[in-house]
Formats: sequence, C-alpha cells, structure tokens
Amino acid sequence: MAAIFVNDVTAQSKDRAISTFSSVLVRPMTGTDRDLDGALSLSQAVHWPYCRDDWSLALELGQGLLAEVDGQIVASTLWWSYGDAFATCGIIIVSPAMQGRGLGRALMENMLEATGDRALLLNSTEEGHRLYESFGFSDISTVHQHQAQLPDVLSAFPVGPVRNMRAGDLPAIAKMDEQAFGAERTRLIESFNRIGTSAVIERNGSIEGFAMCRPFGLGHAVGPVVAATAGDAQSLIRHFMVEKPGGFLRVDTTGDSGLGDWLTAQGLPEVGHVTTMIRGQRPPAAGQARIYGLASQSFG
Ligand SMILES: CC(C)(COP(=O)(O)OP(=O)(O)OC[C@H]1O[C@@H](n2cnc3c(N)ncnc32)[C@H](O)[C@@H]1OP(=O)(O)O)[C@@H](O)C(=O)NCCC(=O)NCCS
Repeated sequence: MAAIFVNDVTAQSKDRAISTFSSVLVRPMTGTDRDLDGALSLSQAVHWPYCRDDWSLALELGQGLLAEVDGQIVASTLWWSYGDAFATCGIIIVSPAMQGRGLGRALMENMLEATGDRALLLNSTEEGHRLYESFGFSDISTVHQHQAQLPDVLSAFPVGPVRNMRAGDLPAIAKMDEQAFGAERTRLIESFNRIGTSAVIERNGSIEGFAMCRPFGLGHAVGPVVAATAGDAQSLIRHFMVEKPGGFLRVDTTGDSGLGDWLTAQGLPEVGHVTTMIRGQRPPAAGQARIYGLASQSFG
C-alpha cells in the first residue's frame, strides 16, 4: 500500500481546540524498530498494557497504518483479515496531545478503504464509540476484562478432563475455532501455540474444547477459550490459573458467557468493559462449541 498524504485534517468537534495539520502522513506500519518503538510509546501514552512483543505479534498476524506528524508517530490502527468477507480491527490509538483533531477519523477512513467490502468487527472503548458509530458500526454485545495477580497458592479445584495440547491436536483445534469464531484463523492459533501453552478438553477420544495462554501485557492472557459448556470453559481457565501461581492473568470474556461472576469469585475481578461493534454482517458460528474467552479485544 502506498503512503497516503492527508492534508488539512481539521477537528470535527466544537468542544475541542480546532487545529489543522498542514501535512499528515498515513502509511503502512512496518516491523522496524522505529515503528515498533513508536507504537509502544503510543500504547504507553494511553496506559494500555501492550509490550513490544504484543505489537510485533499483532502486526505479524495483520496489517496496520501509522500516522506521522512532523516525523513523529502519533496514531495507529491495525486490522486482521480473515478471508475476503470478514476482518477485525483494533489498537486504534491517537496520542493524547493529538486527539480531537481528526486523526482518528482519517485513520478509520484509510483502514475502511483497505479492508474493502469485509464486515468489520471491533471492541470499542467509550472514547471511540462515537467515532465508530459515525462510520456505521453498531453495538452487538460487550466484552468484560477480568484480571489479577494470582495468589501463590491456589486452593484445590476440580479441573475436569483437561490435558495439555499435543501437536496432532492443532487441526482439530483450528477447525473448532473456525466454527465458533465464524472465520478461519489458523495462523493466529499456530502463533499463540508457539509463544504460549494450550490445553484441550477431551472426552472419549474427542476434543470438545480448548484454550490457549500466552504472554501478554502485564503477564499472561488466556484466550481463545472455546468450549461447549460454561463448565468446560471454567475447567480450561482454571487449568491455566493452576499453571501460573503468583502470575498476572487476564481473561476477556463475552458479556453473555455467564462467566463474569465465576471469574470474580476465582479472584479475577472485572476491571473494565468494552462494546463489541460491527459494520456489516458477521459470519455465523457453527458447531457445538462457542467462544467464552477472546483471543484478545483486538483479534476478537
Ligand atoms: C478514540 C480515539 C482513537 C479518537 O481519535 P481522535 O483523533 O481523537 O478522534 P477525531 O478527532 O478523529 O474525532 C472523531 C470523533 O470521535 C469523537 N471523540 C474523539 N475523542 C473522544 C473522546 N475522548 N470521547 C468521546 N468522543 C471522542 C470526536 O468528537 C469525533 O466525533 P464528532 O466528529 O462527532 O465530533 C482517541 O480518542 C484515542 O486514541 N483514545 C484512547 C485510545 C482508545 O480508546 N482508542 C479506541 C480503541 S477502540
């Protein structure tokens, strides 16, 4: 994708200082140190817990745009295409000093051009909601962020028929994820497995659910969690809690998962929530298993 020069980006909001940039460069994000360092500074500026490796993985699995003003990286957006019909987007950040001047809108316009006719899913903070609504996104559900530092010793808990994943399980897991998510994302599953650990629920030789746990942000994140019942999802999450005593663990669960109170009772309280929004039609889920825990708020 060629660099796009956006001139005269002017604030839309009457509440904020009106400001015009003579020249904003919107260009593809690359994996260079400069881009990764700039991106990391952006997430730190808005107090998001992303590490450099989290940015690297996000870019490796998708595509991104950065905005530069006077040679400074001041805004980002990334997206992950799953075939020709569907994509998710996220990590949409404008540096606090540059907010309210139309940069978020300019990045969204460029990203929508790049994603074309794909239905687009995102998880919106309160700050982003008005911006996304203005591009035709509408609310469909919520995602709840549960996290905490785990105690050093966890009380005994029936973990259920969970075992560590074996290499030969990957195709079955990727298929189960595709059905529950509504789109194929084998690359993401393989990458998560490479950098983290994975577990499955197996009954009578058949895999009925799985979950993955990888380094993310302040510690580790569990997700995706895909299971046929809330009980199985709990067993999978508990498996990783037991594996990481004293560690920092995060789970992003859907509002309709029914897991919120349970996670809180397990010592993983909710620390915030976001609104899931869609533009277009999300591909339908199939199969017995459903998503209880997201891969991440950005990946969906
Ligand atoms: C959300 C965000 C990306 C918007 O970028 P921005 O450059 O400030 O937005 P723009 O100047 O292009 O404004 C676009 C619209 O968003 C609205 N908006 C911007 N900041 C807002 C805020 N803090 N609260 C509510 N609405 C806001 C603007 O009013 C404008 O709407 P309008 O055209 O109807 O007036 C930016 O505020 C940000 O980075 N926030 C912190 C990180 C975050 O929450 N990102 C969203 C992740 S889903």
